[in-house]
Amino acid sequence: MDLQNLGYALTQVAHNFGAVAVLGGSLGALWRSPQLESERVLGWLVCIGWAIQIASGSLFGAISFHYYGRFPDISGIAVMSLIIKVMCASGGFFLAALYLWRAAAWPVARRRRIWLTMSGLSAAALTAAAFLRWFS
Ligand code: HEM
Repeated sequence: MDLQNLGYALTQVAHNFGAVAVLGGSLGALWRSPQLESERVLGWLVCIGWAIQIASGSLFGAISFHYYGRFPDISGIAVMSLIIKVMCASGGFFLAALYLWRAAAWPVARRRRIWLTMSGLSAAALTAAAFLRWFS
């Protein structure tokens, strides 16, 4: 059993499902008619999804470092795409945590703005992910 490939593949599984959770959860909340109880369930899903993205994204780097003694040799556009992903994930996690903490006191319009922003952050991160494979 090749532990490096297995570790990488399992990390990618978590990373893929995390991506589905943040985009799907945010769009799902926008799509349904506003209702705080069910939105909070989606809030947890999305918050956990962002945390999974940060943890699994870091694990990719840790696995490379463990096996090769250095991080993957990326530059230029790929580095930019990674920075965008880290910013989206940190911002998204912050917004989701803030939502879970404060949303009960917020008007519907503010709740929808947060869901819209998290949808945008998810879409931006997914788009940036494609440019991680830009080698030059
Ligand atoms: C701290 C934040 C993040 C870090 C450090 C990170 C890191 C990475 C790394 C290193 C890879 C490359 C894996 C490989 O070798 O193929 C990757 C792939 C990927 N990431 Fe992230 N990621 C982060 C956040 C996100 C977010 C928020 C999303 C989407 C919502 C996302 C979606 C993807 C997708 C779809 C891939 C697969 C791309 C492909 O195979 O072409 N990532 N990520």
